[in-house]
Amino acid sequence: MKRKTDFYTHKAKTQGYPARSVYKLQEILLKYKLLKKGDRVLDLGAAPGSFSQYLLERLKGTGWVCGVDISPEISVPKRFPNFSFLQGDIFSASVLTWIMSKQRFDLVVSDAAPATTGNRFVDTQKSLEIAERVLVIAQTVLKEHGMLIVKLFQGGEEQLLMREMKTCFKRVKGFKPKASRRESFETYYIGFDFLNKS
Ligand SMILES: C[S@@+](CC[C@H](N)C(=O)[O-])C[C@H]1O[C@@H](n2cnc3c(N)ncnc32)[C@H](O)[C@@H]1O
Repeated sequence: MKRKTDFYTHKAKTQGYPARSVYKLQEILLKYKLLKKGDRVLDLGAAPGSFSQYLLERLKGTGWVCGVDISPEISVPKRFPNFSFLQGDIFSASVLTWIMSKQRFDLVVSDAAPATTGNRFVDTQKSLEIAERVLVIAQTVLKEHGMLIVKLFQGGEEQLLMREMKTCFKRVKGFKPKASRRESFETYYIGFDFLNKS
């Protein structure tokens, strides 16, 4: 277990990413071919910034990435002009207003996670609340046929999220990337082909 942790942390350090979680996003994007040049991406729970950095590298100067995190500790290199960041809580109305002031997005990714307490019931419940908020934001700002990748701690009422996602995406899949720590109960839900009913 420790060897795996060290492997991805070391790899992230060598490749210049601030967090090992970048390899989870990389695996999902490559497996499902979810990103194309020119895409506009919203990254919720973006700090310290490895998802955003990777997305910007893949976009090669095209498109745009907007990051939001309650923490100001974002370290996306200055060489990417097509990146904007807002420090704020995704539950706040002002954050939603800021996101809505941007053009619509092709892809919403969320790695947002609560600070864990060690109590699995409490942690999964908080994670579900975050994921449901992410879904509301995605429903508000995704383009038709857009995609959503949202992290959720399993062991609670994840079927609720799945059911809600199925009402607005053509297809929904759960996926646990190899880079997720074996002991972690996180998984990612992917919504394909947003059906914009508004
Ligand atoms: C696992 S980290 C994200 C790592 C990031 N994807 C990366 O690759 O660098 C989870 C993040 O979710 C953020 N977060 C948790 N709850 C949030 C909320 N309500 N609003 C905004 N950000 C939140 C935390 O501050 C934390 O930075």
